[in-house]
Amino acid sequence: MKIMAFESSCDETAVAIVEISDNGTQIHANQIYSQFDEHVEYGGVVPEVAARAHLSYFDPLVKKALEEANMSFKDIDAFAATAGPGLLGGVMIGFMYAKSLSLAFNKPFIGTNHLEGHALTPHLTDDIDFPYLLLLVSGGHCQFIHVKNLGDYHTLGGTIDDAIGEAFDKVAKMLDLPYPGGPQIEKLAQKGDKNAYKFPLPLKNKGIDFSFSGLKTSVRQRILTEEMTEQRKADIAASFQETVAQIIEIKAKRAIEQTAVNTFVVAGGVAANKLLRQRLENLCTQKGITFAAPPLKLCTDNAVMIAYAAAMHSRIDQFSELSMSARPRWPLEEI
Ligand code: KG4
Ligand code: ZN
Repeated sequence: MKIMAFESSCDETAVAIVEISDNGTQIHANQIYSQFDEHVEYGGVVPEVAARAHLSYFDPLVKKALEEANMSFKDIDAFAATAGPGLLGGVMIGFMYAKSLSLAFNKPFIGTNHLEGHALTPHLTDDIDFPYLLLLVSGGHCQFIHVKNLGDYHTLGGTIDDAIGEAFDKVAKMLDLPYPGGPQIEKLAQKGDKNAYKFPLPLKNKGIDFSFSGLKTSVRQRILTEEMTEQRKADIAASFQETVAQIIEIKAKRAIEQTAVNTFVVAGGVAANKLLRQRLENLCTQKGITFAAPPLKLCTDNAVMIAYAAAMHSRIDQFSELSMSARPRWPLEEI
Protein backbone atom coordinates (compact mmCIF):
# COMPACT_ATOMS: atom_id res chain seq x y z
CA MET A 1 0.00 0.00 0.00
CA LYS A 2 1.61 3.29 -1.14
CA ILE A 3 0.19 6.42 0.43
CA MET A 4 0.78 10.02 -0.58
CA ALA A 5 0.13 12.38 2.33
CA PHE A 6 -0.26 16.15 2.75
CA GLU A 7 0.47 18.22 5.86
CA SER A 8 -0.44 21.91 6.14
CA SER A 9 -1.80 22.49 9.65
CA CYS A 10 0.72 25.13 10.69
CA ASP A 11 3.75 26.63 8.91
CA GLU A 12 5.26 23.52 7.34
CA THR A 13 4.11 22.59 3.84
CA ALA A 14 4.86 18.88 3.49
CA VAL A 15 4.27 15.97 1.12
CA ALA A 16 5.39 12.37 1.67
CA ILE A 17 5.06 9.00 0.00
CA VAL A 18 5.19 6.04 2.37
CA GLU A 19 4.75 2.34 1.61
CA ILE A 20 3.53 -0.08 4.23
CA SER A 21 3.57 -3.84 3.76
CA ASP A 22 4.11 -7.03 5.73
CA ASN A 23 7.85 -6.44 5.31
CA GLY A 24 7.72 -3.11 7.13
CA THR A 25 7.52 0.56 6.25
CA GLN A 26 9.47 2.38 3.56
CA ILE A 27 9.71 6.15 3.23
CA HIS A 28 9.91 6.83 -0.54
CA ALA A 29 9.66 10.62 -0.32
CA ASN A 30 9.74 13.24 2.43
CA GLN A 31 9.43 16.82 1.15
CA ILE A 32 9.10 19.72 3.60
CA TYR A 33 9.08 23.44 3.06
CA SER A 34 9.38 25.41 6.33
CA GLN A 35 7.88 28.87 6.01
CA PHE A 36 10.49 30.81 8.02
CA ASP A 37 10.91 33.68 5.55
CA GLU A 38 7.15 34.28 5.29
CA HIS A 39 6.67 34.76 9.06
CA VAL A 40 9.99 36.08 10.33
CA GLU A 41 9.01 39.76 10.19
CA TYR A 42 5.95 39.06 12.38
CA GLY A 43 7.89 37.01 14.99
CA GLY A 44 5.31 34.20 14.76
CA VAL A 45 2.98 32.32 12.40
CA VAL A 46 0.28 34.41 10.68
CA PRO A 47 -2.57 32.02 9.67
CA GLU A 48 -3.61 33.82 6.46
CA VAL A 49 0.01 34.14 5.29
CA ALA A 50 0.58 30.44 6.05
CA ALA A 51 -2.49 29.34 4.05
CA ARG A 52 -1.44 31.35 0.99
CA ALA A 53 2.08 29.94 1.18
CA HIS A 54 0.75 26.34 1.38
CA LEU A 55 -1.24 27.05 -1.77
CA SER A 56 1.84 28.10 -3.73
CA TYR A 57 4.25 25.45 -2.38
CA PHE A 58 2.20 22.25 -2.75
CA ASP A 59 2.49 21.97 -6.55
CA PRO A 60 6.32 22.03 -6.66
CA LEU A 61 6.54 19.79 -3.56
CA VAL A 62 4.24 17.14 -5.05
CA LYS A 63 6.36 17.13 -8.19
CA LYS A 64 9.54 16.76 -6.13
CA ALA A 65 8.02 13.97 -4.01
CA LEU A 66 7.06 11.95 -7.10
CA GLU A 67 10.58 12.47 -8.50
CA GLU A 68 12.20 11.46 -5.20
CA ALA A 69 10.09 8.28 -5.08
CA ASN A 70 10.53 7.70 -8.81
CA MET A 71 6.77 7.22 -9.11
CA SER A 72 3.76 8.72 -10.89
CA PHE A 73 0.29 9.37 -9.45
CA LYS A 74 -0.83 6.02 -10.89
CA ASP A 75 1.51 4.21 -8.45
CA ILE A 76 -0.25 5.71 -5.42
CA ASP A 77 -2.88 3.51 -3.73
CA ALA A 78 -4.42 6.11 -1.41
CA PHE A 79 -4.25 9.82 -0.66
CA ALA A 80 -4.15 11.17 2.91
CA ALA A 81 -4.08 14.60 4.51
CA THR A 82 -4.17 16.24 7.89
CA ALA A 83 -7.84 17.00 8.58
CA GLY A 84 -7.09 18.81 11.86
CA PRO A 85 -6.42 20.03 14.46
CA GLY A 86 -4.66 23.14 13.20
CA LEU A 87 -5.06 26.51 11.50
CA LEU A 88 -8.14 25.82 9.38
CA GLY A 89 -7.18 27.95 6.36
CA GLY A 90 -3.97 25.98 5.99
CA VAL A 91 -5.49 22.59 6.79
CA MET A 92 -8.06 23.11 4.00
CA ILE A 93 -5.34 23.50 1.36
CA GLY A 94 -3.71 20.09 1.87
CA PHE A 95 -7.04 18.45 2.70
CA MET A 96 -8.68 19.57 -0.56
CA TYR A 97 -5.55 18.72 -2.55
CA ALA A 98 -5.61 15.13 -1.30
CA LYS A 99 -9.38 14.80 -1.77
CA SER A 100 -9.10 16.07 -5.36
CA LEU A 101 -6.41 13.54 -6.22
CA SER A 102 -8.41 10.78 -4.61
CA LEU A 103 -11.44 11.73 -6.72
CA ALA A 104 -9.43 12.15 -9.92
CA PHE A 105 -7.60 8.82 -9.62
CA ASN A 106 -10.49 6.97 -7.95
CA LYS A 107 -8.39 5.93 -4.96
CA PRO A 108 -9.34 5.95 -1.27
CA PHE A 109 -8.96 9.05 0.88
CA ILE A 110 -7.88 9.14 4.53
CA GLY A 111 -8.37 12.30 6.63
CA THR A 112 -5.82 12.05 9.43
CA ASN A 113 -5.56 13.58 12.88
CA HIS A 114 -2.32 15.60 13.06
CA LEU A 115 -1.74 14.69 16.72
CA GLU A 116 -2.17 11.01 15.93
CA GLY A 117 0.62 11.46 13.37
CA HIS A 118 2.91 12.76 16.12
CA ALA A 119 1.70 10.07 18.52
CA LEU A 120 2.53 7.20 16.15
CA THR A 121 5.95 8.50 15.03
CA PRO A 122 7.99 6.60 17.69
CA HIS A 123 6.24 3.43 16.54
CA LEU A 124 7.63 4.08 13.06
CA THR A 125 11.07 5.55 13.76
CA ASP A 126 12.21 3.66 16.85
CA ASP A 127 10.03 0.57 16.48
CA ILE A 128 8.60 1.27 19.93
CA ASP A 129 5.69 -0.94 20.86
CA PHE A 130 2.44 0.22 22.49
CA PRO A 131 1.90 1.41 25.18
CA TYR A 132 4.19 4.42 25.66
CA LEU A 133 4.08 7.97 26.97
CA LEU A 134 4.81 10.81 24.55
CA LEU A 135 5.70 14.36 25.52
CA LEU A 136 5.03 16.59 22.53
CA VAL A 137 6.73 19.98 22.84
CA SER A 138 6.82 22.43 19.92
CA GLY A 139 5.71 25.87 18.81
CA GLY A 140 2.11 24.68 18.66
CA HIS A 141 1.94 21.72 21.05
CA CYS A 142 2.67 21.09 24.70
CA GLN A 143 1.07 17.92 26.05
CA PHE A 144 1.55 14.38 27.27
CA ILE A 145 -0.13 11.67 25.23
CA HIS A 146 -0.57 8.16 26.60
CA VAL A 147 -0.39 6.08 23.42
CA LYS A 148 -2.09 2.84 24.45
CA ASN A 149 -2.77 1.34 21.04
CA LEU A 150 -3.72 2.36 17.49
CA GLY A 151 -6.70 4.69 17.92
CA ASP A 152 -6.55 4.50 21.71
CA TYR A 153 -4.97 7.67 23.05
CA HIS A 154 -5.35 9.62 26.22
CA THR A 155 -4.18 13.23 26.53
CA LEU A 156 -2.77 13.89 29.98
CA GLY A 157 -2.46 17.54 30.72
CA GLY A 158 -1.45 20.26 28.37
CA THR A 159 -0.82 23.95 28.41
CA ILE A 160 -3.54 26.25 29.68
CA ASP A 161 -2.00 29.21 27.81
CA ASP A 162 1.11 29.24 25.58
CA ALA A 163 2.86 26.25 24.05
CA ILE A 164 6.41 25.78 25.30
CA GLY A 165 8.07 26.71 21.98
CA GLU A 166 5.96 29.84 21.91
CA ALA A 167 7.30 30.76 25.38
CA PHE A 168 10.88 30.32 24.11
CA ASP A 169 10.07 32.44 21.06
CA LYS A 170 8.46 35.23 23.10
CA VAL A 171 11.28 35.42 25.65
CA ALA A 172 13.75 35.48 22.75
CA LYS A 173 11.85 38.41 21.25
CA MET A 174 12.08 40.28 24.58
CA LEU A 175 15.85 39.75 24.46
CA ASP A 176 15.99 41.05 20.85
CA LEU A 177 16.87 37.60 19.50
CA PRO A 178 15.55 36.52 16.06
CA TYR A 179 12.71 34.04 15.41
CA PRO A 180 12.57 31.08 16.01
CA GLY A 181 13.91 31.87 19.46
CA GLY A 182 14.41 28.43 21.02
CA PRO A 183 17.82 27.67 19.49
CA GLN A 184 18.92 31.30 20.15
CA ILE A 185 18.01 31.07 23.85
CA GLU A 186 19.84 27.75 24.13
CA LYS A 187 22.98 29.26 22.57
CA LEU A 188 22.92 32.42 24.69
CA ALA A 189 22.24 30.37 27.85
CA GLN A 190 25.66 28.73 27.49
CA LYS A 191 27.26 32.05 28.43
CA GLY A 192 24.90 32.70 31.36
CA ASP A 193 24.42 31.69 34.98
CA LYS A 194 21.33 29.53 35.41
CA ASN A 195 21.06 30.52 39.08
CA ALA A 196 21.25 34.28 38.47
CA TYR A 197 17.47 34.75 38.48
CA LYS A 198 14.80 32.89 40.38
CA PHE A 199 11.69 32.68 38.20
CA PRO A 200 8.40 31.12 39.35
CA LEU A 201 7.67 27.47 38.58
CA PRO A 202 4.09 27.75 37.22
CA LEU A 203 1.57 25.15 38.44
CA LYS A 204 4.43 23.36 40.22
CA ASN A 205 2.19 21.60 42.70
CA LYS A 206 -0.80 21.08 40.42
CA GLY A 207 -1.29 18.01 38.22
CA ILE A 208 0.22 17.66 34.77
CA ASP A 209 -0.98 20.86 33.09
CA PHE A 210 1.46 23.57 32.02
CA SER A 211 1.27 27.35 32.10
CA PHE A 212 3.90 29.70 30.73
CA SER A 213 2.25 33.12 30.74
CA GLY A 214 3.21 33.95 34.36
CA LEU A 215 6.78 32.88 33.76
CA LYS A 216 6.90 35.04 30.65
CA THR A 217 5.57 38.07 32.58
CA SER A 218 8.13 37.51 35.31
CA VAL A 219 10.94 37.46 32.72
CA ARG A 220 9.55 40.63 31.13
CA GLN A 221 9.50 42.40 34.54
CA ARG A 222 13.19 41.67 35.08
CA ILE A 223 14.08 42.88 31.60
CA LEU A 224 12.13 46.12 32.14
CA THR A 225 13.48 46.86 35.61
CA GLU A 226 17.19 46.23 35.02
CA GLU A 227 19.69 47.58 32.58
CA MET A 228 20.20 44.73 30.12
CA THR A 229 23.91 44.14 29.55
CA GLU A 230 24.98 41.22 27.34
CA GLN A 231 25.86 39.23 30.48
CA ARG A 232 22.47 39.87 32.07
CA LYS A 233 20.72 38.79 28.87
CA ALA A 234 22.69 35.54 28.95
CA ASP A 235 21.79 35.08 32.62
CA ILE A 236 18.09 35.61 31.83
CA ALA A 237 18.29 33.06 28.99
CA ALA A 238 20.05 30.49 31.22
CA SER A 239 17.67 31.02 34.16
CA PHE A 240 14.58 30.86 31.93
CA GLN A 241 15.79 27.66 30.26
CA GLU A 242 16.59 26.13 33.65
CA THR A 243 13.09 26.99 34.95
CA VAL A 244 11.44 25.40 31.90
CA ALA A 245 13.59 22.27 32.29
CA GLN A 246 12.61 21.98 35.95
CA ILE A 247 8.92 22.34 35.15
CA ILE A 248 9.08 19.73 32.40
CA GLU A 249 10.93 17.35 34.71
CA ILE A 250 8.35 17.76 37.52
CA LYS A 251 5.43 17.18 35.14
CA ALA A 252 7.10 14.28 33.32
CA LYS A 253 7.78 12.53 36.62
CA ARG A 254 4.10 12.84 37.54
CA ALA A 255 2.92 11.63 34.11
CA ILE A 256 5.25 8.60 34.22
CA GLU A 257 4.01 7.67 37.68
CA GLN A 258 0.38 8.11 36.69
CA THR A 259 0.60 5.97 33.54
CA ALA A 260 3.15 3.41 34.82
CA VAL A 261 4.65 3.12 31.33
CA ASN A 262 7.96 1.46 30.48
CA THR A 263 8.84 3.83 27.66
CA PHE A 264 8.96 7.61 27.53
CA VAL A 265 9.34 9.52 24.25
CA VAL A 266 9.97 13.23 23.71
CA ALA A 267 9.12 14.80 20.33
CA GLY A 268 8.60 18.19 18.65
CA GLY A 269 10.91 21.11 17.88
CA VAL A 270 11.69 21.89 21.53
CA ALA A 271 12.97 18.31 21.96
CA ALA A 272 16.12 19.63 20.24
CA ASN A 273 16.98 21.42 23.50
CA LYS A 274 19.94 19.60 25.05
CA LEU A 275 19.27 20.55 28.66
CA LEU A 276 15.68 19.36 28.39
CA ARG A 277 16.66 16.08 26.81
CA GLN A 278 19.35 15.47 29.38
CA ARG A 279 16.95 16.07 32.30
CA LEU A 280 14.34 13.76 30.79
CA GLU A 281 16.91 11.09 30.05
CA ASN A 282 18.18 11.25 33.66
CA LEU A 283 14.62 11.03 34.95
CA CYS A 284 13.96 7.90 32.86
CA THR A 285 17.20 6.31 34.09
CA GLN A 286 16.13 7.00 37.69
CA LYS A 287 12.72 5.48 36.99
CA GLY A 288 14.27 2.49 35.20
CA ILE A 289 12.34 3.06 31.98
CA THR A 290 13.39 3.43 28.35
CA PHE A 291 13.94 6.93 26.95
CA ALA A 292 13.62 7.71 23.23
CA ALA A 293 13.73 10.80 21.06
CA PRO A 294 12.87 10.26 17.36
CA PRO A 295 15.06 12.05 14.78
CA LEU A 296 14.03 15.73 14.68
CA LYS A 297 13.17 15.62 10.97
CA LEU A 298 10.37 13.15 11.73
CA CYS A 299 9.17 14.52 15.06
CA THR A 300 8.68 18.14 13.98
CA ASP A 301 5.80 18.71 11.54
CA ASN A 302 6.12 16.51 8.45
CA ALA A 303 3.91 14.45 6.12
CA VAL A 304 5.59 11.08 6.74
CA MET A 305 3.81 10.86 10.08
CA ILE A 306 0.49 11.65 8.39
CA ALA A 307 1.08 8.95 5.76
CA TYR A 308 2.09 6.47 8.46
CA ALA A 309 -1.00 7.12 10.63
CA ALA A 310 -3.17 6.82 7.50
CA ALA A 311 -1.39 3.60 6.52
CA MET A 312 -1.94 2.06 9.96
CA HIS A 313 -5.68 2.74 9.66
CA SER A 314 -5.85 1.57 6.05
CA ARG A 315 -4.43 -1.80 7.09
CA ILE A 316 -7.57 -2.37 9.13
CA ASP A 317 -9.77 -1.01 6.34
CA GLN A 318 -10.43 2.36 7.94
CA PHE A 319 -10.84 5.01 5.24
CA SER A 320 -12.63 8.37 5.15
CA GLU A 321 -15.57 9.57 3.11
CA LEU A 322 -14.87 12.39 0.66
CA SER A 323 -17.62 14.29 2.49
CA MET A 324 -15.45 14.43 5.62
CA SER A 325 -14.99 17.94 7.04
CA ALA A 326 -11.75 19.46 8.26
CA ARG A 327 -11.67 20.22 11.99
CA PRO A 328 -9.78 23.10 13.63
CA ARG A 329 -10.16 21.25 16.96
CA TRP A 330 -10.03 17.47 17.06
CA PRO A 331 -9.07 15.89 20.39
CA LEU A 332 -7.26 12.56 20.10
CA GLU A 333 -9.92 10.94 22.25
CA GLU A 334 -12.46 11.57 19.45
CA ILE A 335 -10.68 9.56 16.74
O1 KG4 B 1 7.98 21.31 15.95
P1 KG4 B 1 8.49 22.62 15.45
O2 KG4 B 1 9.67 22.63 14.53
O3 KG4 B 1 7.37 23.40 14.67
C1 KG4 B 1 6.17 23.90 15.05
O4 KG4 B 1 5.82 23.99 16.23
O5 KG4 B 1 5.47 24.28 14.09
O6 KG4 B 1 8.82 23.50 16.72
C2 KG4 B 1 9.31 24.80 16.61
C3 KG4 B 1 9.50 25.35 18.00
C4 KG4 B 1 9.84 26.85 17.99
O7 KG4 B 1 9.05 27.49 18.96
C5 KG4 B 1 11.31 26.86 18.36
O8 KG4 B 1 11.70 28.04 19.02
C6 KG4 B 1 11.42 25.65 19.25
O9 KG4 B 1 10.60 24.68 18.65
N1 KG4 B 1 12.80 25.14 19.34
C7 KG4 B 1 13.53 25.10 20.48
C8 KG4 B 1 14.82 24.61 20.12
N2 KG4 B 1 14.80 24.35 18.77
C9 KG4 B 1 13.56 24.68 18.32
N3 KG4 B 1 13.22 25.44 21.73
C10 KG4 B 1 14.19 25.31 22.67
N4 KG4 B 1 15.44 24.86 22.40
C11 KG4 B 1 15.79 24.50 21.15
N5 KG4 B 1 17.02 24.06 20.90
ZN1 ZN C 1 2.64 19.31 15.00
